[in-house]
Amino acid sequence: MRTVYLNGSFIPENEAKISIFDRGFLMSDGVYEVTSVIERKLIDFEGHFHRLERSLSELDMTTPLTKEGLLSIHRRLIDKNSVNNGLIYLQITRGSAGDRDFVFPDPETTPQTVVMFSQNKENLLDSPSAISGIKIISIEDQRWGRRDIKTTQLLYPSIGKMMAKKVNADDAWMVQDGYVTEGTSNNAYIIKNGKIITRAKSNDILHGITRAAVLRFAEEAQMEIEERNFSISEARDAEEAFITSASSFVTPVVSIDGQNIANGSPGPMTQRLREIYLDESIKTAI
Ligand code: PDD
Repeated sequence: MRTVYLNGSFIPENEAKISIFDRGFLMSDGVYEVTSVIERKLIDFEGHFHRLERSLSELDMTTPLTKEGLLSIHRRLIDKNSVNNGLIYLQITRGSAGDRDFVFPDPETTPQTVVMFSQNKENLLDSPSAISGIKIISIEDQRWGRRDIKTTQLLYPSIGKMMAKKVNADDAWMVQDGYVTEGTSNNAYIIKNGKIITRAKSNDILHGITRAAVLRFAEEAQMEIEERNFSISEARDAEEAFITSASSFVTPVVSIDGQNIANGSPGPMTQRLREIYLDESIKTAI
């Protein structure tokens, strides 16, 4: 049984209980982060912490723990649960004021709820999708307008994954006004004329921590990057396509809406980017 973290305590998962009035439960009034663990070390921890602070402040919440405090909880979860490879999930909600009310409770009297748990994933590095690539479908983006905040409102992304699953695909790219925003839980890229193309940062997408690192490493490796919108039809004609996220790193996309990208196998630039990302981020893992 896993040991999880809840509001200052490390306890067995079946003893971790949260109020039915918690605003995370009633209103999805909470934010989260997912940080990957490779060989017992955290990847891009610093970036995840800074995005967490930003998500909280955009929602008028304070950061309840220091960076060092959070790092130490992450590490204790890795130790207690013997996580060699896997993830640490962290969620902070506006807490429970003991009733349902649309108005935010007074933070002085209503403490936030802080939950963290680990997920062991032994094949995190060599998952089948990393080797064979994934098939995606395109769907309309029906999420709210502040996708740059990492909130726990994940119903639509979850519906999107189910739509993909129904047609034997692995994931969905969401489209707004004719252009791809991002994947249900990842950022989306294509490669055209040897250039990496991905949507620019705005409120329309989550500013992926893996995205930032991959673009930095790509630039260092003299690869060309264009941050601009692209459509599904442009993606279908691309040389390569891929996604990035903390849990999938860089994963090739090999078909879109049933049509192969190029010859339908993972592209060489995508594979190179995955290698560079993993090499570099393992070097700086903490
Ligand atoms: N998802 N876009 C969306 C909508 C996401 O949910 C995520 C992450 C990303 C990639 O961000 P990062 O590189 O910082 O992981 C982009 C996490 C992994 C999840 O929900 O499980």
